[in-house]
Amino acid sequence: MSSSAQPIKTVTIIGSGLMGSGIAQVAAASGHKVTVVDQSQEIIDKASASIQKSLGRVVKKKFPDDSKAQQTYIADVMSHLSLQTDAVAAVKSADLVIEAIVENLDVKKILFSSLDKEAPSHTIFASNTSSIPIKDIASSTSRLDRFGGLHFFNPVPVMKLVEVIRTPETSDETFSALESFGKAVGKTTVQCKDTPGFIVNRLLVPYMMEAIRLVERGEATPRDVDTAMKLGAGYPMGPFELSDYVGLDTTKFIIDGWTEREPNNPLFSQSELLNKLVAEGKLGVKSGEGFYPYNKK
Ligand code: NAI
Repeated sequence: MSSSAQPIKTVTIIGSGLMGSGIAQVAAASGHKVTVVDQSQEIIDKASASIQKSLGRVVKKKFPDDSKAQQTYIADVMSHLSLQTDAVAAVKSADLVIEAIVENLDVKKILFSSLDKEAPSHTIFASNTSSIPIKDIASSTSRLDRFGGLHFFNPVPVMKLVEVIRTPETSDETFSALESFGKAVGKTTVQCKDTPGFIVNRLLVPYMMEAIRLVERGEATPRDVDTAMKLGAGYPMGPFELSDYVGLDTTKFIIDGWTEREPNNPLFSQSELLNKLVAEGKLGVKSGEGFYPYNKK
């Protein structure tokens, strides 16, 4: 590991959705100068409000019964953050650009190819993609050595892990800078090569799919599988509760991509039951029903 990597101070995050706003929050809270970019003023206003709300939860734990300290902390974190709609302008002074936009290769490539022309040569690019090969996204740029993956977990302020991904072209300096950034925002980092699902999803998605297949074969009910895995394996959630929480469409999207890439891998095979539920709009907690019914808010 090289020690010559410059520490990352200025970060631009493209995409202010669920993941982008969470990454922005932890980066700003750890003293980085953060710019967040999204497509419209309306979207970034929403993101700003959601970051402030999330910080409100943080300060209640951090400074219970001290509303002055709570307000000072929120104001300090927010002072490290700016939000805007011009991605090109936002990368001009960035040490690191983290992309957290829609999970679509073509859209990500168009974005990175335009940013590549505008960002300084030292700027490192990273994607937070869950399922697209980093090398495919990086191919839209001329900085393959300064490109890697930073895979955060939802909800970012709570989940303690970041998977740091390297392609064969990622330089040691880049990898070391990405790892240091992950630690600087308070996460534990693990290293992984650019393989489907990296570590967590590579194990988790086939596990959830096999749970669904087990139910499809009529061997047990979702409720009994969940009870078994919670009480027998010590997992905090069973695979069906987890699938409903993650979103059945998200699980299907990931498995579809893997089936296409490795059609003969039995771990990546399709499930009729999952496909049927998604086709019926039963997507889990967010749609009010998945494997289980939920009270719609
Ligand atoms: P999201 O849908 O909540 O947010 C995406 C945001 O990107 C939206 O606000 C959208 O307006 C914006 N956007 C789309 N195209 C853009 C463009 N060209 N320029 C600027 N902004 C643009 O999505 P989410 O869940 O935050 O996911 C983002 C990325 O993070 C995806 O690649 C996803 O695979 C990955 N990811 C998602 C996780 C999750 O649990 N949701 C976990 C880990 C990674």
